[in-house]
Amino acid sequence: MNVTIRPLDIASDVELEQYQALAEALDEDTYGGHQKQSLTQLKAELEDSPYWTARRWVAIAETLEGGEMLVGRAAVFLPLKENLETISVGVAVHPAHRGQGIGTALVEEALLPAIAESGRTLVEAYGEVEAGADPEDLRHPVHRIAARLGVSRKNLAVCRALSLPLDPALLDALDAESEERRGEYRIELWDGEIPEEHLHAYGRLLTQLEIDEPDEEVEHEPAEYTPERIRESERRMRESGTTRIVAVAVAPGGEFVGNTEVHVHEAPGSTLGYQENTLVMPDHRGHRLGLGLKVATHRQLAERAPQLRSLVTWNSHVNPWMIAVNEKLGYEVLFHELVLQGRREA
Ligand SMILES: CC(C)(COP(=O)(O)OP(=O)(O)OC[C@H]1O[C@@H](n2cnc3c(N)ncnc32)[C@H](O)[C@@H]1OP(=O)(O)O)[C@@H](O)C(=O)NCCC(=O)NCCS
Repeated sequence: MNVTIRPLDIASDVELEQYQALAEALDEDTYGGHQKQSLTQLKAELEDSPYWTARRWVAIAETLEGGEMLVGRAAVFLPLKENLETISVGVAVHPAHRGQGIGTALVEEALLPAIAESGRTLVEAYGEVEAGADPEDLRHPVHRIAARLGVSRKNLAVCRALSLPLDPALLDALDAESEERRGEYRIELWDGEIPEEHLHAYGRLLTQLEIDEPDEEVEHEPAEYTPERIRESERRMRESGTTRIVAVAVAPGGEFVGNTEVHVHEAPGSTLGYQENTLVMPDHRGHRLGLGLKVATHRQLAERAPQLRSLVTWNSHVNPWMIAVNEKLGYEVLFHELVLQGRREA
């Protein structure tokens, strides 16, 4: 099979359709669900932002019949406001076409030249190792690719998935458990965009999460989530067809001390959703607010996203508190995620 590596042609709808089909196949294989984005929504997601810029490549295989098939993808992301030494890279190959050198070709022909051109000195990548396999086994394809990129494991996370729909009785029981310790704290649900008057406070929660999340030896500068940055991310989400369900924890004095977000794609055929950042501020831990926040968002799913079959989330393996909350809700391990980094000469 002859494979060509070239930049993704975003002017070609035929190519974008194949690119979307590859994304769906990868998500089905990894998470047991996928998102059905339209081409307009996909184009919105592929646009650069004021906070980072990206380059993307595809691997095209020529089939015996003379046709072409998009079988792999690679991308680099350059943060523009913080982490200015970092270049974040990704590579993935269709599950049916692995083990034939396509991943290696994407690394050698696209990623390594782009890393060199960028002048950035800290290379970062993420890799998946299936549950049950040893994430440290250097014979695994992820480590083979990582060695070519000059990166090695700096943190280990676990991806878990929750099968939906949930039993309302379980949510009632968990809410009662959280309420026992909640005292004067309140949980509030926000529908869609962050209210204007709370943008600054919400941004502080988002930055705090990046500071507090256990990430072992990963080098990462927390981002500053200004009101403009939050609005920009909301615009992108809207244009790519994603809505968010947000819950915040409010302390007896009225300040915001915790949050959680679930991101859901609106198309009826989108079966996969993401449980994103959950945080309780350090001085307010121990009131079961993490559990209360998650119960509040997960309760919304039956009504606001009945199309979902699977909700996925990531935790560092050194975050027993968050993992315990997720296990109570019924999340089960899908795979190990490696955070890989490596330094290079400019
Ligand atoms: C990692 C990934 C991109 C590799 O793609 P690929 O096209 O199979 O890669 P290659 O065929 O070039 O193989 C790379 C190495 O893994 C080995 N390999 C690939 N499949 C293998 C298998 N099933 N069993 C054992 N070794 C395997 C190859 O022999 C090669 O080894 P080498 O370095 O000694 O030559 C692919 O498995 C994937 O998409 N995984 C999910 C996404 C991911 O985790 N990406 C992060 C990469 S850091």
